[in-house]
Amino acid sequence: MSGFFMQKILVTGGCGYIGSHTIVDLIENGYDVISVDNNSRSNPNMFSGIEKITGKKIKNYKVDLCNYDDTFAIFLENADIKGVIHFAAYKSVEESVKDPLLYFENNINSLVNLLKCVQEFKVPNFVFSSSCTVYGDADDMTVTESTPLMPAESPYGMTKQMGEQIVNEFSKSTGLRSILLRYFNPAGAHPSTAIGEMPLGKPQNLVPAITQTAIGRIPKMFVHGTDYVTRDGSCIRDYIHVCDLANAHTLALKYLEEGRNNSLCEIFNLGSGNGVTVLEAIHAFEKVSGVKLNYETGPRRAGDVEAIYANNDLAKNTLSWKPKYSLEDIMSTAWKWEQFLKADETVFRSQPGELN
Ligand code: WQD
Repeated sequence: MSGFFMQKILVTGGCGYIGSHTIVDLIENGYDVISVDNNSRSNPNMFSGIEKITGKKIKNYKVDLCNYDDTFAIFLENADIKGVIHFAAYKSVEESVKDPLLYFENNINSLVNLLKCVQEFKVPNFVFSSSCTVYGDADDMTVTESTPLMPAESPYGMTKQMGEQIVNEFSKSTGLRSILLRYFNPAGAHPSTAIGEMPLGKPQNLVPAITQTAIGRIPKMFVHGTDYVTRDGSCIRDYIHVCDLANAHTLALKYLEEGRNNSLCEIFNLGSGNGVTVLEAIHAFEKVSGVKLNYETGPRRAGDVEAIYANNDLAKNTLSWKPKYSLEDIMSTAWKWEQFLKADETVFRSQPGELN
């Protein structure tokens, strides 16, 4: 853009699922982006996908944010950073229950180090990746940003609740403008099929479990519980396309840059606003892909809430966010990506960190 001053944004976790899709959206909106990702849970090949889509090579600092000195050095080298979007964190509910200290140490220490640097270098805008998991087992099925938070169901969820409080207190004490984005269930892949979700090991989340079963990477999948008090007995969730989610981050940054924020730390739900049961999601996939899915109904999964989906009015009205992808788009892009991965085993699957 002639004369457009390209604001430099630091994206942490830039090789990750939502981080990589957000980098694409930021670039398409005229930002200059750098990344920090130690690739402990992500695949550096994601950058070749970003380059395929945008034509841009992304500079990534392979640094552990738990190392303060290494994190500080990034800011020293990039004193023109105008905003930080913080994705880098461990996110497995199951793993966090097995190893809570791993999650408290990684997710909290990395955030505190990052905020120390943000303060030191007077970075004005900060967007924090949070999750609907902070609502816990909410009394209402549809939650707004002012729905009271219940106790988190896992140490992972606790780190998101703590993270929100840390960012909020930090903003109040320093004047840093921040936004907390509460994701519901991110799913799908970029329509170009150049980037997508790369679950390490056996997929925990529903949509990759569906696509890996459909392509034969796992023999069958289980529906975790069909005895819930819902229209077909399976859990209700709010699936949001990862590209819609990515665009919300760009809009949140613009909102802060333009000083439109009403307070120093604001919260937004990022969900489609539609509640979908597990069985409905499976049937949507079968319809879109033409593949009959090999699944069985099984027992409930510990920690699952029965039903939760977003009231997303605040993000739509305040950030002018317009989610445009449907559940069918989620399933078709996720399926295309799974088929690409199978055809391209050499590039993505045989990378370090792939737990099989
Ligand atoms: C959705 C539904 C499962 C797999 C978690 C985190 C949340 C966010 C998204 C990080 C549930 C059912 C799943 C399977 C199934 N992560 N399911 N068979 O648990 O809503 O949210 O991931 O930010 O913070 O808590 O997502 O996709 O794991 O499960 O029946 O093989 O699908 O029981 O009802 P969840 P999910």
